[in-house]
Amino acid sequence: MAPFPQPICPSRRSPHYVLLLLLLALLLSSCNVHHRLVLAEAPPSPEWSALLAWKSSLRRHGPLLDSWTSSSNATHPAAPCSTWYGVTCSQWGGQGAGGRRLVVVTAIRLHSRSKSRSDDEPGEASVGAGLVGTLEALDFAALPWLMHLNLRGNVLYGAIPPSIGTLSKLASLDLSLNQLSGELPPSLANLSRLAELDLSFNHITGELFPGFFGNGSSMLVKLRLRHNNITGKIPSEVAHLKRLHLLDLGENQIKGGIPQEMGHLEALRRLSLQNNNLTGPIPASIGSLTKLKALDLSTNQLSKDLPLSLANLSLLVELDLSNNFQLTGELHPQFFTNWTRLVTFTIQWNQITGRIPAEVRYSRSLVTLDIGANNLTGVVPTSLGSLSSLEKASVARNKLYGPLPPSLGNLTSLKIFYADNNYITGRIPLEMGKLANLV
Ligand SMILES: *[C@@H]1O[C@H](CO)[C@@H](O)[C@H](O)[C@H]1NC(C)=O
Ligand SMILES: *[C@@H]1O[C@H](CO)[C@@H](O)[C@H](O)[C@H]1NC(C)=O
Ligand SMILES: *[C@@H]1O[C@H](CO)[C@@H](O)[C@H](O)[C@H]1NC(C)=O
Ligand SMILES: *[C@@H]1O[C@H](CO)[C@@H](O)[C@H](O)[C@H]1NC(C)=O
Ligand SMILES: *[C@@H]1O[C@H](CO)[C@@H](O)[C@H](O)[C@H]1NC(C)=O
Ligand SMILES: *[C@@H]1O[C@H](CO)[C@@H](O)[C@H](O)[C@H]1NC(C)=O
Ligand SMILES: *[C@@H]1O[C@H](CO)[C@@H](O)[C@H](O)[C@H]1NC(C)=O
Ligand SMILES: *[C@@H]1O[C@H](CO)[C@@H](O)[C@H](O)[C@H]1NC(C)=O
Ligand SMILES: *[C@@H]1O[C@H](CO)[C@@H](O)[C@H](O)[C@H]1NC(C)=O
Repeated sequence: MAPFPQPICPSRRSPHYVLLLLLLALLLSSCNVHHRLVLAEAPPSPEWSALLAWKSSLRRHGPLLDSWTSSSNATHPAAPCSTWYGVTCSQWGGQGAGGRRLVVVTAIRLHSRSKSRSDDEPGEASVGAGLVGTLEALDFAALPWLMHLNLRGNVLYGAIPPSIGTLSKLASLDLSLNQLSGELPPSLANLSRLAELDLSFNHITGELFPGFFGNGSSMLVKLRLRHNNITGKIPSEVAHLKRLHLLDLGENQIKGGIPQEMGHLEALRRLSLQNNNLTGPIPASIGSLTKLKALDLSTNQLSKDLPLSLANLSLLVELDLSNNFQLTGELHPQFFTNWTRLVTFTIQWNQITGRIPAEVRYSRSLVTLDIGANNLTGVVPTSLGSLSSLEKASVARNKLYGPLPPSLGNLTSLKIFYADNNYITGRIPLEMGKLANLV
């Protein structure tokens, strides 16, 4: 492991500590001044000229980038590390500390500022660095110390250059919410320190090639490729990403099955594969992802029976299996006895058969429950009335019969309740009239 940039102040661990105490004290006291001189006097390093060349290649940029200038005079020395917007430097004290390479660029952050980054939604369009242009003219090879690159929310178009693979120290790369096109460069696999990669909301095409997932030594914790035009299948090599907490491949055109090897991603907290063209069953191995809090497989063409192993996912908070049209099987009572933290469960527009189990009451945190548009039979269980947090519920478009249970009148948080298109008889229970919020 190569050393990280560190301060260039002399070390207190010097063997001549005692003898040189006086000199050392002198050096330490002048250390800050010395740094400032280095920053001010440093010649335009290849890093800074690379950044200036890229800046001049841009079709447009916001006023913040006006701070990127090489001109200097007595009152305003050119000092990219302290005056350039979005550029962070570190002092480097490794080999050649006596040389010129004392200050290196370790982070570039030119993302748009949106008030909040709600987990996956694009931020409100807001003016940040306002970059319009390509990455072609950015000489990545001149930025060997870069650890963080964040250009989220600009108007960058064209391809992601293969030379990005030279950023061997890169730990996070965020190019989301741009207009990037072309395929994923294979050289991304060379970014062996990468922990977070976000390319979502672009126009990236091509397939997820097996090498993309590395050889098992990947450091990736978060991988977001949502809302692109990625095609092909999910390679079984996805299982190499042992440290992955978050995988978002939603809103692409990925087809084929969910690989059974996905069950090896045991660190996963969030798995989002929604709005693709996935077919075949939900593999039983998904039950091994016991840390999973959110699972979204909605709007695909998944089929076959729900695996009982889904009951193993006892930390689930959000589960969306809706709009697959072909999922069959039953809502096993064990699902609900184990899903005690579930807040959202949606499985509408499938072909789920059997009854609504009375055990649904164990998922006592449920706020949204949509089991509409399936083939459910039997009656609406009385126990549904004990889900005191429930705000939205639908059992519509099934084959349910009998009267609705009076216990539904106890659901004081309920705002929306659909039960239409069933064989439900009798009237709306009188008790439901007490629900002030019901629409
Ligand atoms: C010195 O440089 C700064 C920044 O480039 C500029 O704003 C300022 O006008 C310059 N001052 C003189 C005296 O040239
Ligand atoms: C990855 O790096 C190695 C060594 O630096 C190089 O030989 C190889 O071509 C790179 N792979 C890609 C896909 O860029
Ligand atoms: C895996 O790939 C990384 C980066 O490409 C490389 O540094 C490492 O040596 C490889 N490990 C094995 C076991 O092949
Ligand atoms: C994907 O491709 C289709 C057809 O070319 C296009 O209409 C659509 O906008 C693309 N989507 C994205 C996210 O690039
Ligand atoms: C994916 O499914 C959608 C809707 O079913 C369809 O329009 C589209 O052509 C499919 N794409 C691919 C690549 O199969
Ligand atoms: C349930 O999770 C455990 C790990 O906690 C795993 O060993 C087991 O295989 C899982 N069972 C099923 C049915 O997936
Ligand atoms: C319910 O969860 C427990 C762990 O919390 C697990 O041991 C058990 O197998 C799960 N039940 C089913 C049917 O998967
Ligand atoms: C669900 O109902 C539809 C129409 O009512 C029927 O065509 C379909 O075969 C049923 N599916 C299952 C799994 O029972
Ligand atoms: C509904 O609340 C009433 C009291 O308001 C209680 O007697 C009844 O058992 C409750 N029903 C259910 C199903 O929780």
